[in-house]
Amino acid sequence: MKKNFIVANWKLNGNIETISNFLKYLKLKIPLYSQYNKIVIAPSTIYLERVYRKIKDINVFLGAQDVDINKKGAFTGETSILMLEDIGVKYVIVGHSERRFFHNETDKLIAKKFGLIKSLNLIPILCIGESANEKKQNKTEKILKNQLDVIFEYFGEKAFINAIIAYEPIWAIGTGVSADPIYVQSIHKLIKNHINKYNANNIEKLIVQYGGSVNSKNAKSFLEQPDIDGLLIGSASLMHKEFLKILKISNDILCK
Ligand code: PGA
Repeated sequence: MKKNFIVANWKLNGNIETISNFLKYLKLKIPLYSQYNKIVIAPSTIYLERVYRKIKDINVFLGAQDVDINKKGAFTGETSILMLEDIGVKYVIVGHSERRFFHNETDKLIAKKFGLIKSLNLIPILCIGESANEKKQNKTEKILKNQLDVIFEYFGEKAFINAIIAYEPIWAIGTGVSADPIYVQSIHKLIKNHINKYNANNIEKLIVQYGGSVNSKNAKSFLEQPDIDGLLIGSASLMHKEFLKILKISNDILCK
């Protein structure tokens, strides 16, 4: 049965009170909305365990927003994949444009993190996307293919088995200007075709989510597209009412 893959990326937001409140409402509605949604909450690292304690008995999964490339050792301030696994994380976001930009993460570093996440049988959510300038110069296709090819180069033709792709055009993130759903559909098709070039990744199972200014007003138009398999939601995932509305919209589309 198809489920939409909906991820709340809370970024550097939230505190004990807002998180408790959010999860209280989520817990109440989960029986209604988890039938057709696979739901992941990705809080800041410091709140991962707190969130896990509240969601472990309901149909919601834990996601981390980042991981270090080292498994252990003298790396002050970092969080390792072993620690994430230890506390119940199942999904790890990698290659988010905010990390590429603010932390100078290169394609190579992102590929290393991607491999590390998979080596522990956790699932990477690989974010790819073009900037406004690249889009203007008609470079979108080239940029996306390059971002995927780096992963293929490191991990071979089966690289995207048990991995999720999030297409996040940089110009749509946090701007309130989401991409056009028809445009996103065509990009998702392109991504899937490219990943299928080796015919080894079980394309039927590949999940490609869209992210970038998704809210309860535009969620339906994205999820109605055949190749948009879920959403990666930033700001709108911070408010429980808004997030629950999106879960309901997604559920209603698939239960028809
Ligand atoms: P946004 O963020 O929904 O606030 O645009 C999406 C993301 O960065 O994953």
